[in-house]
Amino acid sequence: MKLRNLLLGLALVAGSGAMAQDNVLTVQTQKPGAPVQPTMYGIFFEDINYAADGGLYGELVKNRSFEFTPDPLMGWQAFGKVSILDDGPFDRNPHYARLTTMGHGDWWTGLQNEGYFGIGVEQGKEYRFSIYARVPDGKTQMLRVQLVEPYTSEEHQEFAQEDIKVTSRDWQKYTVVLRSRKTVSKAHLRLFLCEENGRSGSGTMDVEHVSLFPVDTWMGHENGMRRDLAQALADMKPGVFRFPGGCIVEGVTLDNRYNWKNSVGPVENRPLNKNRWESTFTYRYYPDYFQSYGLGFYEFFLLSEEIGAEPLPVLNVGMACQYQNWNDESAHAPATEEGLREYIDDCLDLIEFANGPADSEWGKVRADMGHPAPFNLKLLAIGNEQWDEFYFKRVKIVADAVRRAHPEIKIIGTSGPNSEGGEFERGWEAMKRQRADLVDEHFYRPITWFKNEWNRYDKYDRRGPKVFAGEYACHDRGKKYNHAGASIYEAAFMTGLERNADVVHMATYAPLFSHVDGWQWRPDMIWYDNLRVAPSASYWVQALYAQNRGTHVLPIQNSDFPAKGEDGVLASAVWDKDRGEVIVKVANTLNEARTVSIRLEGLKTLADAMAITLDLSQYDLENTVENPRAIEPHESKVQAEGNQLNVTIAGKNFVVFKVKK
Ligand code: AHR
Repeated sequence: MKLRNLLLGLALVAGSGAMAQDNVLTVQTQKPGAPVQPTMYGIFFEDINYAADGGLYGELVKNRSFEFTPDPLMGWQAFGKVSILDDGPFDRNPHYARLTTMGHGDWWTGLQNEGYFGIGVEQGKEYRFSIYARVPDGKTQMLRVQLVEPYTSEEHQEFAQEDIKVTSRDWQKYTVVLRSRKTVSKAHLRLFLCEENGRSGSGTMDVEHVSLFPVDTWMGHENGMRRDLAQALADMKPGVFRFPGGCIVEGVTLDNRYNWKNSVGPVENRPLNKNRWESTFTYRYYPDYFQSYGLGFYEFFLLSEEIGAEPLPVLNVGMACQYQNWNDESAHAPATEEGLREYIDDCLDLIEFANGPADSEWGKVRADMGHPAPFNLKLLAIGNEQWDEFYFKRVKIVADAVRRAHPEIKIIGTSGPNSEGGEFERGWEAMKRQRADLVDEHFYRPITWFKNEWNRYDKYDRRGPKVFAGEYACHDRGKKYNHAGASIYEAAFMTGLERNADVVHMATYAPLFSHVDGWQWRPDMIWYDNLRVAPSASYWVQALYAQNRGTHVLPIQNSDFPAKGEDGVLASAVWDKDRGEVIVKVANTLNEARTVSIRLEGLKTLADAMAITLDLSQYDLENTVENPRAIEPHESKVQAEGNQLNVTIAGKNFVVFKVKK
């Protein structure tokens, strides 16, 4: 954001204390109310749209363990003599490739990997290649490792190369660093089997867990994340991090659910799982969408810690996706304590993994991975977006067992996929009976819904569980990319979350990530290709709230609060005791500008204010990887008049005002 001494979208109205204003916003600065929870604005990660493998997870090789089904060579082009065997060094990923020379100096054996929609590499940057290999007959062989541009008219496809000499009959890990001479967004990784002189000779080599990472990952972790994507998350300053889903927690069948225990320990031995989003939408079908679990629960906890967000894991309650199994009881685990034992243990063991001493069974797994100190888990969601008795009877059994063992953990239940109606109400009632600490509500809804819900949380029961708006987004005109026209309604609606921070404790937009070549669901908060990232307009709305969360709600009176279903000016105010700031967020959803007087009662004269403006007035405008900054916030100064800010807010603009007290 640039500080511009321009009043972008904001025109100061001279002497306007005396002029009639369209909206008068009166903020009681001396009456701080409910605390705004540090968890209030967060992020929700799910491996949808190639968010993990091919996205946030830094691995550049697809199907690195030759475990994809039905074809263990999916993602690879094999040439020469290549076979797949299944008695490899990692029992949960047993397949590996055997490369055998062709017996003629001009015939080559090797493998070529296409990455996820290609492999993105940048000129001058380093990439760590690693592989497990052996020469079963003891005859030394060399592996020539290349980054190539397969589709080029240039003389040489290769633009980075290193050789690895393999001498042992036993499996060993080999590592080399490749320095790229070019920037290529859709490169391939090519491996040639050869003699030490680089010629094709005679011999055999077995290869397994073929991996390529940027050296420059987020925080430099070797099994790390793409730096630019993780940085975009950190920059938001999220207060809570919900993971790993979403429907992915449930699976199409229970066997297909996200099994966190498979996602920890050495990466080489984390078994592969089919991604449930591979098959959900046949109009965008991805036969190669699997979960390597390389980005697993340890990595999620670590990322939470590094970006300062409270970890919020979601665990399966013994139910497969209800949308895909409807009333089939047999799709789910029996609703008895015995039938749900595995799911109860998953919860209890996860708490031990996160918080247990380093010498406990699961605490040791964490410690062995490099984090002896606990992760300090406080929140646990049991089940995702499930409904009716199927869920109610199971969540009771699992939640009761967790509570008995860990009363210190806050439990989050769900009110199902609907944002109102019988099912939703039954969900809330059941969660109240279960004494859930929070209830996770989901609403992917059009503009009309958002306009009808300005006051949604004003009327919520203050004595029951708190609200977690765990998945929401404004979807307009048939699920577009991410356009300004929808994001202004998210900004306006969120003033209602903030005004009601006594009952709304957490909110996370969804989904988070999307690869431009591999999406199944949109809109999404952050788009990317192999090299570029485009935070959407919705990202900026979320970031402005999270970065300016404040610590306490301030009462605000709006002289012209829009009626249900109407456009207008919506506002909320918070006090930030740590920064000594009053923060007022104002969204104008009208097409035309409005004059607004912000009166800070309890203050005499104000220092100049800072205004951060997000212009969302061009309905169809969106940030794309080609033009990632079409929409972004701009800072400007606003002169105060006494204790007032008298401003004009342009149509479909969202502005955050900050005044030092
Ligand atoms: O965010 C996409 C999906 O929407 C989530 O997986 C699910 O919880 C909801 O239906």
